[in-house]
Amino acid sequence: MSASSRFDAGRPVDHARSPQGTPTLSYGGDYNPEQWPETVWSDDVALMRRAGVNLVTVGVFSWARLEPEPGRFTVDWLDRLLTLLADAGIDVDLATPTASPPPWMSVRWPDALSVDADGVRTSHGSRNHFCPSAPSYRDRCRIIATALVERYAHHPAVVMWHVGNEYGQVCFCDHCAAAFRIWLQDLYGDLAHLNEAWGTAFWSQSYGAWEEVLPPRAAPYLRNPGHELDYRRFTSDAQLACYRDQREIIRAADPSVPVTTNFMGAFPGVDYRGWAPYVDVIADDSYPDPTDPDSPIGSAFTADLMRSLAAGKPWLLLEQAAGAVSWREVNVAKTPARVRLDSWQAIARGAVGSCYFQWRASRAGAERFHAALVPHHGTETAVFRGVEEHGRELAALASDPSFWAARSSATSGDGQVALVLDWDCWWASLAPDLPSARLDLLAETKRWYAALWRRGLRVDIVGSEDDLSGYAVVCCPWQLLLTDRARERLRSAVAAGAHLVLGPFSGILDATARVQPGPFPAGLTDLVGAQVIEWLPVADGDTVRLNDEPGALADARGSFWVDRLQVADAEVLAVVVDGQAAGHPAVVRRRVGTGEGAVTYLATRPDAETLDRILGEVVDGAGVVGPVPAPPSGIEVATHGDLVTLLHRGGRECIVPTGALTDLHTAERPGEVRLPSDEIRHLVRARAHDQHDQPTNDREKPVTRRESRR
Ligand code: GAL
Repeated sequence: MSASSRFDAGRPVDHARSPQGTPTLSYGGDYNPEQWPETVWSDDVALMRRAGVNLVTVGVFSWARLEPEPGRFTVDWLDRLLTLLADAGIDVDLATPTASPPPWMSVRWPDALSVDADGVRTSHGSRNHFCPSAPSYRDRCRIIATALVERYAHHPAVVMWHVGNEYGQVCFCDHCAAAFRIWLQDLYGDLAHLNEAWGTAFWSQSYGAWEEVLPPRAAPYLRNPGHELDYRRFTSDAQLACYRDQREIIRAADPSVPVTTNFMGAFPGVDYRGWAPYVDVIADDSYPDPTDPDSPIGSAFTADLMRSLAAGKPWLLLEQAAGAVSWREVNVAKTPARVRLDSWQAIARGAVGSCYFQWRASRAGAERFHAALVPHHGTETAVFRGVEEHGRELAALASDPSFWAARSSATSGDGQVALVLDWDCWWASLAPDLPSARLDLLAETKRWYAALWRRGLRVDIVGSEDDLSGYAVVCCPWQLLLTDRARERLRSAVAAGAHLVLGPFSGILDATARVQPGPFPAGLTDLVGAQVIEWLPVADGDTVRLNDEPGALADARGSFWVDRLQVADAEVLAVVVDGQAAGHPAVVRRRVGTGEGAVTYLATRPDAETLDRILGEVVDGAGVVGPVPAPPSGIEVATHGDLVTLLHRGGRECIVPTGALTDLHTAERPGEVRLPSDEIRHLVRARAHDQHDQPTNDREKPVTRRESRR
């Protein structure tokens, strides 16, 4: 039996190899050994074993080494490397090297180089210089992928395939123009529908022939927003097609091995929700900025996004830095304590492993100063000691059956709180002609997330067209673009008892970025019990005062935006006191029917404290309580299944009341936990201890190696 057959679709990527069959969390990183003489490889492998590394990603940027000229493959070095790794019991996530075509490619097929919006063709010399629509690029990708698959499908070391790297290309060349037209024909059928959707009657943009339609290249002034939105959609799909070309080749030969590619958190270039069904293990690259005090909340958000995209499949933290990155202006290093906490955070939020970029620091090339598990300063360093220590603690945790049992109850969508993030809506929000450029959809979504994070709640990051009916609370910070289907989803959620919280300037655009016929929020005014009669951006530096005298929102402020709101059938919780909307409602709530359902509409962007209060009141009212009801400030509470992890990021020792939670290892109920700075603690919600021997969810059941691969 090949090792790979242990990783059927839907199984977690556990790379256990102990003779006892103990499951193991994945731990390791990108390994780019072509930078080193082979004599270094055996040292590397010995060090990997010392550090507890059990998974390395190999070959991400090896195209020139694997195919030095078109059609001539030199894979002997990879044969030797994979054998070395397999013999050491280290699994391989084998990459197709298609993110960085070799120089011969651009010399022979210059049309495969990407072109920017100004018409400038890129050159080789960096990476990601390809056009996703160039037939020659697509062909050469298929050829190299086929060569690798023919040789390494069923290889005992290969437990996962990794296609390309961080897809995010935008290209404006003639190949893309042609592919875009086909994509548009598929969507609109004919030019009349396209002209209608894009509103080309304005500024004399009507298209009379398909050849006239181009990518949104450089233009003297504002571009057509419908055109731009469709090009973003097309770009995401064009890259997905590149990924799927190779995925199909792999799956045909090696159907039981998962295929992945690495996502980049909340990245606007590609609609990850559209991609997720084609990615067997959702893999993420996470590089939080250690100088940003909110970055731990940002990485929690990213982890929850990945878990939500995975929808029950495994997700893996595939890349992070073991110190400093090398692409910020000032690359402040994460401390070893931060490195450890970031890794634990991902595991706490359901990751099946924690890996890094990269194993050994490069001496040359564009990332000479990027941190690595083996730094330039060698192994007698705090970094490497931390790496070894973390490897040991991950292995120890993974060998504890109570850990897997506690996680085994995790199912997709088992949160009670949903936070909506749509790529379409995000893209529409980037249009330069909106009434205010200060509204930032991702930043606002993260602000709402932060309010929920502070209460220690598990949050699913969902799409507005997902089934939302199981949630107690559905948060839509800024639903600028609202499709008919999404409208129905929100209505159904409320009808099923959810409390919907909707931010300002929502329900404005349709799927083609046209302004919907009002009143606004379009198609939801009856549900909200109010309608917006004017949009009023707030000047930079100004705020408006909100007041519900003598209620809880006294002293609250709004910034960036105010909707002038007219109430028909809703309770006014706060009013705008000053500015152009003075006297109009700022926050309204409508209880729907006789059920539990309700809608709270915010007509402005409240300050952080006020947002905390509003969302806090909503979740309390909906009966949603985290496992630690009021986490002390600075304590992160992460829940996955019945496993509850407390993380303490700095400051003094903290006492956390833990109620009925039990200690994962002792099964005792401590009542409270004293958590020193930079420490974590694993606890369990009551029901898991009864289930230790009986994982309830196959997808989370640990997969063990049933036989040696050699
Ligand atoms: C990632 C990329 C890696 C490496 C790393 C450095 O975005 O996938 O190849 O460049 O960043 O932080």
